[in-house]
Amino acid sequence: MTAMPTILQELPSDLDQDRLPRHVAVIMDGNGRWAKRRGLPRIMGHRRGVDALKGLLRCCNDWGIKSLTAYAFSTENWGRPHEEVDFLMTLFERVLLRELQEMMQENVRIQFVGNLEALPPSLQAQIERSMTETQNNHGIQFTVATNYGGRQEILQACREIASLVQQGKIQPDEIDEAMFSQHLYTANVGDPDLLIRTSGEMRLSNFLLWQLAYAELYITEALWPDFDRTEFHRALSSYQKRDRRFGKV
Ligand code: FPP
Repeated sequence: MTAMPTILQELPSDLDQDRLPRHVAVIMDGNGRWAKRRGLPRIMGHRRGVDALKGLLRCCNDWGIKSLTAYAFSTENWGRPHEEVDFLMTLFERVLLRELQEMMQENVRIQFVGNLEALPPSLQAQIERSMTETQNNHGIQFTVATNYGGRQEILQACREIASLVQQGKIQPDEIDEAMFSQHLYTANVGDPDLLIRTSGEMRLSNFLLWQLAYAELYITEALWPDFDRTEFHRALSSYQKRDRRFGKV
């Protein structure tokens, strides 16, 4: 992992501190292509992808963005060759072991969302530990979607709410958007203002389907391992030029 600068880096002067997104979400695409272009095995792309994510987390923290959510592994990603799946699971575990101390120093609060019970038990243990140890930190909220699927998340919320109705605890006409959101994994972080997807793909890929309803989308051709501060600066500049109307005129 590349050494990170320890000095807080200021927000570039052309960006408006008061109009930053509160919550940024990222679909980190293109690790495999990054590696292939260099004649390297795909796993090297994922390793560099971790560096890029760490850089973005640090940058968000420095620039005062309150929440970052990253799509690390989708429910569909189990369909990859099992060596790659195994590598990713081991990588996530190692990253958590290695980075916990630094996350504590930087006041990061980490949480994992998704169907975590299906993950290897040793990874679940590291997830549990990192979430417990960082739960009282009050810096950036870092959410990692792992074995996550947006449709599954919505179905799970429906089941929970249906069960409350069945038990007579709520009436069907009490179900509104605010209540529904409270049954999603992201109840504590709210909706992203900006979604960034790398490597030029124009898809949501089952990511935060409910939560992205009003997000601004930013798609860049850059491959994820190349997504650095300069790229993030471009994404924020584009975001700040948008007129967010939320369906109004
Ligand atoms: C997509 O690239 C990337 C992934 C499936 C893995 C992303 C995961 C990380 C960067 C690690 C995050 C870790 C923690 C614990 C926070 P791809 O393989 O789909 O690239 P391709 O489209 O070029 O093949």
